[in-house]
Amino acid sequence: MLSSIEAKSEYVISASKYQKENCPSSLGSVRFINHFITENSLNVIEKLLKEYFADEIKQKPRVCVVGLHACADLSVTMLDIFSKMSYFGVLAIMPCCYHRLKQKTNGEFFNFPVSNVLKMLGTLYNGEEFLKVPFLRLACQQTIEKFKSLPLAERQKQSKSWMLRAILQFIAKEENCTVQRLKRKSGKHTDYEAANLIEKYVSNIGDTHKVIYKGNVDDRERPMDESLLKKKFLEKWSEYEEQCDVLEFLSTFQTHIQTICENLVLLDRVQFLQEKGLQCFCYKIADNYISPRCHALIAFKM
Ligand SMILES: C[S@@+](CC[C@H](N)C(=O)[O-])C[C@H]1O[C@@H](n2cnc3c(N)ncnc32)[C@H](O)[C@@H]1O
Repeated sequence: MLSSIEAKSEYVISASKYQKENCPSSLGSVRFINHFITENSLNVIEKLLKEYFADEIKQKPRVCVVGLHACADLSVTMLDIFSKMSYFGVLAIMPCCYHRLKQKTNGEFFNFPVSNVLKMLGTLYNGEEFLKVPFLRLACQQTIEKFKSLPLAERQKQSKSWMLRAILQFIAKEENCTVQRLKRKSGKHTDYEAANLIEKYVSNIGDTHKVIYKGNVDDRERPMDESLLKKKFLEKWSEYEEQCDVLEFLSTFQTHIQTICENLVLLDRVQFLQEKGLQCFCYKIADNYISPRCHALIAFKM
């Protein structure tokens, strides 16, 4: 028997629809539950186990917890619940989106570092200065193996698209604005090869991003004038166009330190469970060319 917990109701609906259409033989064996897991979910999960798996947990209370790309705080929350819940015997969880970890008002994360060892090292080596969102973003980038496999033209295309985004951010900062990405993408990657790349990007900008002045008095959004934004964008582009190479060098350097950052995040979580007296290991279980987040935390109770 399997129970699946998901925060978004639309995903719960589409998952059970998919199951009906593609795996009808498993209908009686899987339960879908719509719930946002927090550190207070212990009771909800226990109730759920007792309701759906009463016989199983009576005979052998060794429930296995599995999470595929359990993003942001979810992985750490599950490690914590795993350590506290007597029914749980084994855990295999593949974390992702480290940069989405929830922050306190002072910028610290609730769940990074989580182990006493990394907290102590962070204090010793001024971790508060660099164990921040950019560090977690680096940990979330593509791996060096994948990066090396990209043809030069592809890397140049990436640098160009980063430069476009960086210019947008630069203008927003100068104008005391924030940038919000809208649902529509800025264009397919192949568009960046086109001779009229900038014209396309600039003409689409109102559909792809919102640039909004900060600190609105009456809570109404005040967007930056689109024609002013486009004019400034073209000015900045002519200033920085020749420097796309710099971004390529920078991203090469970043990709080389990606593994170090990700290892620190993963080992912090391994250590977190070990400090609670549990066995925990980290294994590479997927092809990083397909999924850059390819490590799983495996834990079990003896
Ligand atoms: C990155 S997706 C992974 C989806 C799928 N397992 C995969 O690998 O393609 C993470 C999923 O976890 C759900 N999620 C994130 N935090 C959650 C939480 N605290 N409780 C329940 N679901 C959560 C999200 O809504 C999302 O559907």
